[in-house]
Amino acid sequence: MGKLWQGRTSGKVSEIADDFNSSIKFDKRLYKEDITGSIAHAKMLSKCGIITEEDEKTLTAGLIAILDDINSGALKIDDSAEDIHTFIEETLTARVGAVGKKLHTARSRNDQVALDLRMHLKAESTVITDKIIALINAITDKAAEYKDAVCPGYTHLQRAQPITFGHHLLAYAFMLIRDLDRFNDCVKRMDVSPIGSCALAGTTYNTDRQFEAKELGFNAVSQNSIDGVSDRDFVAEFIFCCSLLQTHLSRLAEEIILWTSWEFGFVKLSDDFTTGSSIMPQKKNSDMAELVRGKTGRVYGDLMGIITVLKGLPLAYNKDMQEDKELVFDAADTVKMCLSVFAPMISTMTANRDNMKAAASKGFINATDLADYLVKKGETFRTAYKICGEIVGYCINSGKTLETLDLKEYKTFSELFENDLYSAIDIVNCVNKRISEGGTSVASVEKQIAEIRELLHKN
Ligand code: ARG
Repeated sequence: MGKLWQGRTSGKVSEIADDFNSSIKFDKRLYKEDITGSIAHAKMLSKCGIITEEDEKTLTAGLIAILDDINSGALKIDDSAEDIHTFIEETLTARVGAVGKKLHTARSRNDQVALDLRMHLKAESTVITDKIIALINAITDKAAEYKDAVCPGYTHLQRAQPITFGHHLLAYAFMLIRDLDRFNDCVKRMDVSPIGSCALAGTTYNTDRQFEAKELGFNAVSQNSIDGVSDRDFVAEFIFCCSLLQTHLSRLAEEIILWTSWEFGFVKLSDDFTTGSSIMPQKKNSDMAELVRGKTGRVYGDLMGIITVLKGLPLAYNKDMQEDKELVFDAADTVKMCLSVFAPMISTMTANRDNMKAAASKGFINATDLADYLVKKGETFRTAYKICGEIVGYCINSGKTLETLDLKEYKTFSELFENDLYSAIDIVNCVNKRISEGGTSVASVEKQIAEIRELLHKN
């Protein structure tokens, strides 16, 4: 294929430079957006009297035919073309003749590529938010199933206080709700059309940018043509949304890996989402969760890549910006894949209530409740805390637990202890007394589930 810019130079570049410069191998995925954008552009040009209606019809028919042919496989995208924009324009001219050469009036590849990418990422955001919703639903359903399953809650990965497994899972649902919100917010700034900025300075033709933006479903047009072609904030923001989402998936992945270990034995993944070892017959590995955790690294890399590409770039368009695409495509693909595997992995996992409860019954996890008991009997919290710390120390030295220490021994630490202390430190009671808003009791968890379901219903 020839070069659109042949003229000032011969248009002949060395093979190695041509290959280096070309972006078609990755930007071909923008063909639909490029054609849709071109159809709207032809319509605007004809509406503004810049080309005739006849020309518009020819251009539109040609573009639709190209779209159909690429979709059906009848037209192969030529990897030797410089980029997708070149390929489509040249194919159009080859098919419809000289009128094809009018399409690029009052347009530049600089505003064209910015337009295509915005359209593409808007669509990708919808795909991703749909997948986030599916995952939130999977997590919420699982949380409902285990809303009363007592397990240890940790801080510093040390047993801290008893919680319900449902409560723990819901923490992830709330993170993902923020991700949903973040993508929706990112789309607001993405939803601005740069087309009509042309190379950088606007155009002398009497164009109608608002019309073209509306045709393409944009909410607004960029207000400064230089910013219009130079802005890739929406790419950086999109990849940041992907990165933080991956952070959340990776944290859950890590917990699943721990929970499925022999040491924890809290969770079993379905065979559909685990692998074995080629040598160790007993192995059942949580590879999917590990991969999600691992792939988080590449998404962070994409984020670092884009902000580094943009750093110090002078206005307006620079070829450096072509680097945005592989990064953002990789981030989007990775996130979509991770979400797709995560939702069914969660739906099909089972938790072992007995193991979780047994773990929650060890480690003096109800020591805070013992202190709270003394406070309710009139002790100050700080003193109660100290007394209970001494009791725990005594139990450890004498091989006892808070449940097996008898009342007489308790009374040596404080006269306030009575027989009702045992029900105050009963693990299930400890959980169910935590009825504060957002707390771990079954009632609080049920409320959180209802709130999530209502929110998703509205979304
Ligand atoms: N392939 C280019 C990109 O992705 C398209 C824009 C090229 N513009 C230019 N003036 N060379 O950024």
